[in-house]
Amino acid sequence: MLGIEHPIIQGGMQWVGKAEMTSAVSNAGGLGILTALTQPTPEALLGEIERCRSMTDKPFAVNLTILPTIRPVPYDEYIAAIIDSGIKVVETAGRNPQPFLPAMQDAGIKVIHKCTSIRHSLKAESIGCDMVSVDGFECAGHPGEDDVTNLLLLPLAARRLKIPFIASGGFADGRGLAAALAMGADGINMGTRFMVTQEAPIHEKVKQAMVAATELDTALLYRTLRNTARVFKNSVAEKVLEIEEREGPTDFDEIAPLVKGTRGQELFDTGDLEHGIWSAGMVIGLIDDIPSCRELVTRIVAEAEQIIADRLDSVLVR
Ligand SMILES: Cc1cc2nc3c(=O)[nH]c(=O)nc-3n(C[C@H](O)[C@H](O)[C@H](O)COP(=O)(O)O)c2cc1C
Repeated sequence: MLGIEHPIIQGGMQWVGKAEMTSAVSNAGGLGILTALTQPTPEALLGEIERCRSMTDKPFAVNLTILPTIRPVPYDEYIAAIIDSGIKVVETAGRNPQPFLPAMQDAGIKVIHKCTSIRHSLKAESIGCDMVSVDGFECAGHPGEDDVTNLLLLPLAARRLKIPFIASGGFADGRGLAAALAMGADGINMGTRFMVTQEAPIHEKVKQAMVAATELDTALLYRTLRNTARVFKNSVAEKVLEIEEREGPTDFDEIAPLVKGTRGQELFDTGDLEHGIWSAGMVIGLIDDIPSCRELVTRIVAEAEQIIADRLDSVLVR
């Protein structure tokens, strides 16, 4: 359906999903995804799509995240730009994408909606999405409020969905890919692992901090606002947690100056790790190197093939 060689997708990542990242994943045989809202305007997104086309002749997609933002977003104009660009796969996330589906699907776009629960996945199927990306509690970014991990979500999705689905959240290696396929997914979607690659357009210090971190080094912010986000646990994340714990359901205005998106962008540019917050998944515990995207994708596929052919076939006594 996606025209790719390996069943590995790089999920949308604010400030990271630029042409360098996306083209590197697509050139490695996976599906790279540009993040629409990383571009300040729909016109800038068109320019970034062109830049990415100059870096790869393989298919790539665009992520459109529909979430409450500090600054209002002209979604219809971003959708029009995506359609005009001739992009054929869109990853939507956040709110229900139904209002945007007819325009995209009439233009021949396949829509993958990212969901953090089975009920949202079934809803996405019922409104006509082509595929879902099932994002477990382990994931970076917004895991929802149900706290169900992929060990449950994926087999549930396999039992209940008719459309294909991708496993997202907590994947970094061939063991994960083989497990996702065994649980019924058609591939994996990774964010955090792709951040820690040579081509990810972020400061080396951020990558090194993630290599050094363990699975215990993420924090869940905004639980009190029911808009939970999993981020790297630095001093800014701890400060936000302190405010939330002290004051209970919090007025976002108090937190906003600490967590402004632009501060995250500056952090990625400068490598000042305490300047803001950034999304990171528990899977940082499995990341211990900074490979190229090609090395990473090739290694994951080779490991998964070996596990499926050798180990899975020999463990069960017949
Ligand atoms: C730095 C970063 C930024 C992200 N930004 C977005 C975003 O803007 N929109 C979105 O739908 N998902 C976003 N995500 C989530 C990823 O697309 C993906 O669902 C998630 O990373 C999967 O979990 P993993 O990190 O364990 O692989 C982001 C993830 C990271 C690491």
